[in-house]
Amino acid sequence: MYFDEKKAKDRKYYTPCTTRMEVPFEEFVRRLESSAKTEGKRVYLQQTLNDTVGKNIVADFLQFNWDWINKQQQKQNWGHLTSNLLLIGLAGNVTPVHYDEQQNFFAQVKGYKRCILFAPEQIECLYPYPVHHPCDRQSQVDFDNPDYNRFPKFRYASGVEAVVGPGDVLYIPMYWWHHIESLLEGGYTTSVNFWYKAGPTPRNIVYPLKPVQKMAIMRNIEKMLAEALGDYREVGPLMNTMIQGRYTLMDMTEVNGNKVLYTD
Ligand code: SIN
Ligand code: FE
Repeated sequence: MYFDEKKAKDRKYYTPCTTRMEVPFEEFVRRLESSAKTEGKRVYLQQTLNDTVGKNIVADFLQFNWDWINKQQQKQNWGHLTSNLLLIGLAGNVTPVHYDEQQNFFAQVKGYKRCILFAPEQIECLYPYPVHHPCDRQSQVDFDNPDYNRFPKFRYASGVEAVVGPGDVLYIPMYWWHHIESLLEGGYTTSVNFWYKAGPTPRNIVYPLKPVQKMAIMRNIEKMLAEALGDYREVGPLMNTMIQGRYTLMDMTEVNGNKVLYTD
């Protein structure tokens, strides 16, 4: 699971379940092979393709179909390509469900990955960590052992599944939740992410807003409150005071088939 190292530093009680190590490639391969055999600690290479990588990787990278990629970027009116991440993993490696704030072309190079995508509005069923938590943008629900008492609506989560193999490109739209696991067939997996900034905000805002726009609003409100209050730990209590008994489901009734507040 990805976590934000800066946010983790401020927290006494948070212990990450992954550690970041910088090792030479040979060392990574050694660890990959030994963890494949011993089922010990799993390793997952995640290296940004920048000017520090070897020239063979650069040569390979140039083999992508850039005509096609650039055409898509133009057609969708995306912003610029911000980064490429090379991922090399092992059968059974799982990236738990999360969303990113950029458009992503996920190119599968070697091996097979199972991808489960959930639309942004499924936020209701996926219970993301608070924005200030190191695990911001990730679901709190453990897919292997869901706690239905804490996360009752996870029962209604409904996604779409795809298995990607060599040569496939999966478009993971910004704010779409994705769970990605390397499958047992094919051994090692290699993928390259192409992340793009979102396009410019449309000048005419159309109502009702789209789920992605509402997600952006929610993120901004959490950030603004923490800043205004001077302490992220006050965000939850303040929002509770605002909502409990005023905007909660229990304060609602049905009028002509519409849910409205008693006070409306
Ligand atoms: C993965 O392939 O394991 C994760 C990629 C992503 O989250 O974009
Ligand atoms: Fe992602």
